[in-house]
Amino acid sequence: MTAGPVGVAVIGAGVISAEYLRTLSTFPDIRLVAVADIAPERAAAAARAHGIPLAGDVPAVLDEPDVELVVNLTVPAAHAQVAAAALRAGKHVYGEKPLTPTPNEAERLVAEASERGLLLGGAPDTFLGAGLQSAIRAVRAGHIGRPVAATTAVQSLGPESWHPDPAFFYQPGAGPLFDLGPYYLTALVALFGSVARVAATAARAREHRTVATGPKAGQSFPVDVPTHVSALLEFASDASANSTFSFDSSHPRIRFEITGTEGTLAVPDPNTFRGPLRLRANGSDEWRELPVRGRTDGRGLGVLDMARTIRAQDSSARIRDKAAIADGLSTHRASGALAFHVLQTMTAITQSAAVGAFVPLPAQLVPPAPLPEDWDPTAATLSGTSP
Ligand SMILES: NC(=O)c1ccc[n+]([C@@H]2O[C@H](COP(=O)([O-])OP(=O)(O)OC[C@H]3O[C@@H](n4cnc5c(N)ncnc54)[C@H](O)[C@@H]3O)[C@@H](O)[C@H]2O)c1
Repeated sequence: MTAGPVGVAVIGAGVISAEYLRTLSTFPDIRLVAVADIAPERAAAAARAHGIPLAGDVPAVLDEPDVELVVNLTVPAAHAQVAAAALRAGKHVYGEKPLTPTPNEAERLVAEASERGLLLGGAPDTFLGAGLQSAIRAVRAGHIGRPVAATTAVQSLGPESWHPDPAFFYQPGAGPLFDLGPYYLTALVALFGSVARVAATAARAREHRTVATGPKAGQSFPVDVPTHVSALLEFASDASANSTFSFDSSHPRIRFEITGTEGTLAVPDPNTFRGPLRLRANGSDEWRELPVRGRTDGRGLGVLDMARTIRAQDSSARIRDKAAIADGLSTHRASGALAFHVLQTMTAITQSAAVGAFVPLPAQLVPPAPLPEDWDPTAATLSGTSP
């Protein structure tokens, strides 16, 4: 296909798939074609609920020529394997976070996508929502002067109070750092640019946890990752951030503040698409609310941005080499490169906690461009039919 809405398959019909399917089905530039899961009844139920024509196992869905882009919503341990199979089948891939549990797996995916001339994207896309886009625009417009530092914290007693199958949150690839860290770190990179080095400590309050809700309630499962992480980040710009990620705190709290030479910005929860956004200028003893403009549609904005880039690439591909275009035209914002940098940052945080020293980040990254204020997911921008 080189024109018209981009054909999308969702692989992994679990808890978060409902939000993606709901959002994606409202975008005219996306055509939901198929749902797959290793549990076939889940795929069938999701397809039925959203009027999607095909439900099946992963190989059947990857065989479907109408599927151009795979949205990988499996558990973190399956991310690499499912994404690699999709790329080998010639599909563009957008994956939930983390991109993969380890940077080596992610690096192979980035290379494989580039070699095949395919785009790779990664969650979160919450930074494309109205709240964080307005924060990015406020910082770029100089509302806080030169950005100097950020303080972020996300703490709770963990997701087993509400998730029916929470064991994966305590396995490699999750824990508070790898599960919630991507929201905070992606927002920080979008605001400050790439991370240069990190230092951290990590702890684990309990060896086992218990499922609280659903058919598995009462079952105990092991905790194999740190559940309280404190990190210090230094950005290439010389700005810094101190960030706490915890599943050990009985005080649920979210905090995200950016301080600049002229004031402090209180940024909304980066795991949402909304505001509020508040500014406290130096010398003022009051917070002032700033306007929040943009989209709050939900998870899927990054997939749409990627789909539109795929069509831009398709039209350029008629005249240029496809692999070069995948490198040069990867202007979609929730990109594999961004998700990879965030994964490398989380890995460096884990290493620093283990060795007790600063750990440098290997590569630099250009932060994604802000979305135009009038960017409209509900507009049909991809018209025409396939040749
Ligand atoms: N639950 C949330 O609130 C939430 C929010 C944002 C992001 N996420 C991310 O989304 C992903 C999925 O989370 P979830 O909560 O929906 O998990 P889930 O356990 O509810 O669903 C995962 C689904 O993937 C399927 N699956 C697992 N391995 C597979 C494979 N190899 N091939 C095909 N299907 C496979 C499972 O059968 C299951 O239906 C994770 O990466 C998570 O970090 C979850």
